[in-house]
Amino acid sequence: MPTYGSGRRVAIVAGVRTPFAKSGTVLKDISAIDLGRHCVAELIQRTSLETRSVDLLVFGTVVPSVLAPNIAREVSLIPHLPKGVQAHTVGRACASANQAITDAADQIVLGHADVAIAGGAESLSNVPILHSRGFADALVAASRAKSLGGRVQALSKIRPRDLVPVTPAIAEPTTGETMGQSAEKMAKINGITRDEQDQLALRSHRLAHAGTQDGRLTSEIAPIWAPPDFTPVTVDNGVRDDTGLDQLRALRPVFDRRYGTVTAGNSSPLTDGAAAVLLMSEDRARAAGYQPLAFIRSYAYAALDPGEQLLMAPVLAAPMALHRAGLTLADMDLVEMHEAFAAQVLSNLKALESRAWAERAGFSQPVGAVDRARLNVMGGSIALGHPFGATGARITTTLCHELIRRNGQFGLMTVCAAGGMGFAMVIERS
Ligand SMILES: CC(C)(COP(=O)(O)OP(=O)(O)OC[C@H]1O[C@@H](n2cnc3c(N)ncnc32)[C@H](O)[C@@H]1OP(=O)(O)O)[C@@H](O)C(=O)NCCC(=O)NCCS
Repeated sequence: MPTYGSGRRVAIVAGVRTPFAKSGTVLKDISAIDLGRHCVAELIQRTSLETRSVDLLVFGTVVPSVLAPNIAREVSLIPHLPKGVQAHTVGRACASANQAITDAADQIVLGHADVAIAGGAESLSNVPILHSRGFADALVAASRAKSLGGRVQALSKIRPRDLVPVTPAIAEPTTGETMGQSAEKMAKINGITRDEQDQLALRSHRLAHAGTQDGRLTSEIAPIWAPPDFTPVTVDNGVRDDTGLDQLRALRPVFDRRYGTVTAGNSSPLTDGAAAVLLMSEDRARAAGYQPLAFIRSYAYAALDPGEQLLMAPVLAAPMALHRAGLTLADMDLVEMHEAFAAQVLSNLKALESRAWAERAGFSQPVGAVDRARLNVMGGSIALGHPFGATGARITTTLCHELIRRNGQFGLMTVCAAGGMGFAMVIERS
C-alpha cells in the first residue's frame, strides 16, 4: 500500500504552544482566539516564515464562541499574516487539532497548498453561558412586539425556572453520560484498578515535571503575558512536583462517589491553551531551507457507539494507521497517547493487546503491548492539561521533538474523542 502523500510528503516543520493552565487560573482572561493568535504569531516568528507563502490556516476548537464561531479566520487575521490567507475551523472533539492537521495535510497532498498552519485553541474559562429556551423565547417575542404593552406581555411569560442559565456539559448528547462517567465505566469493564490509575497519573506528573525542569517541554512554549497584571506565564501550571501516591490515593472519586476510582488526580483537568504546527510540502520545506522535524506517514480515524465504551476508538484507529504506514508497533520508537483519564489510557493499552479488539478493527493480530518506556515519555494530558481543541497539536509537536532527541525513526500518536471517536497518526523522520 502506498503511504500517505507518497507523491507529496507532508513535512511537520515546527510546532509551538502556549503554556497550558488549569481553567479559571492564570489564562482565564484570555479568549481562545487570543490564545490561538499568540501561538500562531510565535510560530511565525520562530520559523522566520515568509508569510506570503501561507496558503491556509486550519484551527480546531470544541466550545466555540457564539460571537466568532470560525476561530480559524479570527486567528488568521493577525497582523503577521496577509488577509488573503483562507481559514476554516474544524470540530472533532478532543481530536480537533489533529483534524486541523490532517485537513491541512490533505490539502498539501492534493497539491492545493504548499504551506499551512494548523492547530487549535480552547479556553474552558470562557465557555458560553446560555439563556434557557423559555427566557430566549420571551426575549425574541418581546423584541418583535410592536408596542410597550406587547413587550411587557411577552416578558411576563418568563418563569423563575427560565432564569436558570444553561452551561455546556462535557456530556454525550446521545447518552447524557459525562466523560468522567464513561471513564468510570471503562475502568470497571476492563478491570482497571484505582492503584493502576494513580500510578499512571503519578508517572505523568513526574515525567512532565522532568521535561519542564530540563527545558524539553518549555522549549515548545511561547511565554504569555497574562492580564490583568501581565505577569509572564512560562510553564504549564497543572504539573505537580508535590504529588505522590499517598496524596493521589487520598482523593475521593468524582464521578461515582461510592464505588468509583476516577478522581481529580487521575483525570486530565479542564484547561486553557493553544497549540499549532507549521506544515509544508517536502519540496517547499527543502527549497525554503527548512529542516523538517518529521513527516506524516499515515493517519486514521475511527468511531464506535458512544453508549458502549466512549474513549476506546483509538484502539480501532491505531491498527489502521499502522497498516496504512506499512509498519507495526515494534517499529515505533515512541508512542504519544492522549491521557483524558488514566482509566482510558489503561483501557486503551489493554485493548491494543486484545485479539477481540483487533478483529473489531478488521485485523487478525492485535497491535500488541506498548513498551511503557516509550509511552508518553514527558508525561501527558493528566499532568500537562488538556485544552480540548489544542491537545492534538501539542502531542504532535512533542512527539516530533522527542523523536529527534532520541534519534528515533517512527512515532505513533493516539487521541480519544467525544462521540466515541478516535485518531491515530504515524510520523517518520527523514
Ligand atoms: C475531575 C474534575 C471534575 C476535577 O475538577 P476539580 O475538582 O475542579 O479539580 P481540582 O484541580 O480542584 O482538584 C480537586 C482536589 O484534588 C487535588 N488534586 C488534584 N490533582 C492532584 C494530584 N495530582 N495530587 C494531589 N492532589 C491533587 C487538588 O489539589 C484539589 O484539592 P483541594 O480540593 O484540597 O484544593 C475535572 O478536572 C474534570 O472534569 N476533568 C475531566 C475533564 C474531561 O472530561 N475531559 C475530557 C477528556 S477527553
